[in-house]
Amino acid sequence: MRQLRLALCLFLAVGIAFVSMRFLDFQPKDILLDKGAIADHPLYLIGFYTHVGLGILALLSGPFQFMDKLRVRQLTWHRTLGKVYVVCCLLSGLAGFGIAWFANERWVTSFGFAALAVAWVWTTGRAYRHIRAGQVELHRQWMYRSFALTFAAVTLRLWLPLMTFGLKWSFATSYQIVSWLCWVPNLLLIEIWLRRQRKEADFQRAVGG
Ligand code: HEM
Repeated sequence: MRQLRLALCLFLAVGIAFVSMRFLDFQPKDILLDKGAIADHPLYLIGFYTHVGLGILALLSGPFQFMDKLRVRQLTWHRTLGKVYVVCCLLSGLAGFGIAWFANERWVTSFGFAALAVAWVWTTGRAYRHIRAGQVELHRQWMYRSFALTFAAVTLRLWLPLMTFGLKWSFATSYQIVSWLCWVPNLLLIEIWLRRQRKEADFQRAVGG
């Protein structure tokens, strides 16, 4: 079951990463066309392409880190890819925080994306600090939280068509809701899952001891 979940995450993450690569020809398209003058500002464009480019790398590198076999057999790979993931999350998150203030349908969206960026940088930073301190279990838990937030790039693109095409809500309403819905439930779900894992581990220890 765990393998299946991981495979599904990998499939969705790689799929969204590839779809997002359409921006990497640096031609104005999609949301950039609705932004007016700010979309021509060099600082905004640096932020936008840094965010998208490194976000894609985070989506592509993240899922492999959770594969037990790969991690145990190829620890050097895990470490190298882990550093790539951390740098991508931190820089893409910082850039995401910057461009959030110009998000379509602000201010609800701006605060939603900005809060996501802060949480993304915070969880990834903590995961990194824990492994530097040799606290493997805490590192594992914070990396799950970090990737649950990276995965917001996927859940956003699942929720949005459901709301606009499925429920026929306006784009403005859907986008405002999705700026929160794409990440808060991810974080709650991973928290419930981690809590359940901790309880099972405690139970095993109690039974074993
Ligand atoms: C998890 C933290 C993330 C935050 C805080 C965040 C924030 C943002 C913001 C503020 C925008 C601009 C929205 C607008 O102007 O209306 C945006 C757009 C975008 N982001 Fe992210 N993002 C995150 C993760 C990712 C990841 C991991 C990817 C990897 C593919 C990604 C790819 C994109 C793309 C392709 C766009 C262009 C909009 C579109 O057509 O979907 N983002 N993001």
